[in-house]
Amino acid sequence: MLSEKSRPIIEQTIGVIAERIPAITPEFYKSMFNARPDLLDGMFSRSNQKNGTQPQALAGSIAAFASHLLKNPDSYPDEVLSRVAHKHTSLGLLPEEYPTVHEHLFGAIAADLGDAATPEVVAAWDEVYWLMADALIKLEKGLYGQQANDVMFAPFKLISKEEIAKGVIAFEFEPADDTPLTRPIPGQYVTIQVKVKDGIRQPRQFTLVPSQEGHRRVVIRKDPQGEVTPILHEDINEGDILEISNPYGDVVLDEGHGSLVLASAGIGTTPIVAFLDKLAKEQSQRKVTVLHADHSKDRWPGRQIMERLVDSLPNAQLITWMETPGDGDHEGFMNLADIDLDVDEDTNAFMCGPLPFMKGLRSQLIEKGMRGRNIHYEIFGPDQWMLHDEARMA
Ligand code: FAD
Ligand code: HEM
Repeated sequence: MLSEKSRPIIEQTIGVIAERIPAITPEFYKSMFNARPDLLDGMFSRSNQKNGTQPQALAGSIAAFASHLLKNPDSYPDEVLSRVAHKHTSLGLLPEEYPTVHEHLFGAIAADLGDAATPEVVAAWDEVYWLMADALIKLEKGLYGQQANDVMFAPFKLISKEEIAKGVIAFEFEPADDTPLTRPIPGQYVTIQVKVKDGIRQPRQFTLVPSQEGHRRVVIRKDPQGEVTPILHEDINEGDILEISNPYGDVVLDEGHGSLVLASAGIGTTPIVAFLDKLAKEQSQRKVTVLHADHSKDRWPGRQIMERLVDSLPNAQLITWMETPGDGDHEGFMNLADIDLDVDEDTNAFMCGPLPFMKGLRSQLIEKGMRGRNIHYEIFGPDQWMLHDEARMA
């Protein structure tokens, strides 16, 4: 809990800190990577630094956390902390690194605020930082403790590589040593490390899709402007060994009996396929509405498996929207007005796809009467949505 001494100071300064975060962030990262260039080798994504998404997410989360503490003194924003802790552990982050971020972030804040960074102001923000860091460290320790082994990454051999849709390849790996394997919960992801052109390692997350027991299977869309996926598609071949993390991620199916809406766009099918496979294995009687939007039928990743799994479930149906005329049940972008969708307060929705797609769909589901808390999403990049969504932080 925030101390009574710090509370008024945070109240007075949160506006200016939140406003200055975009200017503070680049200086914070510049100074941290100058002092610790090794953090760009296997820990931080260089592209997320360059495109600006991750820096704002990390530094911005501290102001968002402070704002939560002011409004809800007795609770933490658990959903946000959980998402960050899963991402951190998938990268192998250890508690020893927290003072590094602290030093460089606070150096940048002090430099930006100048005389306004009085010892009292710095002490109050220090308190916020360590409340958040301690909460994350605790969650991360718990997540590491749930694994079947105590390594961060283990070697896996690529045993098959198959193009399953235009520009999308399924990669199947088997363990290359005898590290005990954690069984993933459907919907979870792993981090894969890839050596890039200048010799450093770059980590990226990929959702696990159903595979033979003991294997790891991922389905990857090539981003032609990306650093890692072109290498995976073009230069990594059967027999090659890659370092892969244990499974992490908290976007997993609820265990209730209510109806489900599973919605994806593009490569966002990967967690949906994992969910459908789980439901099919359990011979679930739940009512499941699967919605998918894509450019065209041939670019829809996992079309065959989704069709087969939906067919195998007694109360499931699949409805599609395709931009290419004639390819789907409906033409253009996903629009719930095109269909008859019944939702009630026990319905849970899971969605995965580009942010504008998910934001639009969430609004449509809320309009239909769904509870915001029952709408879950996986985002294939740093999450800049939840942090600024007051309804979720509360
Ligand atoms: P990156 O190198 O990360 O580049 C991404 C984008 O950044 C590029 O398109 C480019 O526009 C921009 N960029 C790069 N460099 C610069 C620069 N210098 N200036 C400005 N912009 C720049 N992907 C899948 O295919 N399948 C999955 O199942 C999957 N699951 C995921 C699960 C999670 C939890 C997360 C977080 C992500 C998942 N992803 C998945 C996405 C994946 O991790 C990668 O982010 C994605 O594949 C792109 O990787 P990349 O290295 O090719 O591109
Ligand atoms: C990701 C917050 C400490 C490394 C993130 C994200 C947030 C965040 C909000 C984005 C999560 C997402 O992907 O949705 C914090 C906070 C910290 C902290 C509040 C301290 C209190 C650290 C430390 C390190 C670190 C100490 C390592 C030195 C990373 C990395 C990512 C990440 C590598 C993934 C980002 C990427 O490469 O795109 N963190 N973090 N974080 N964090 Fe932290």
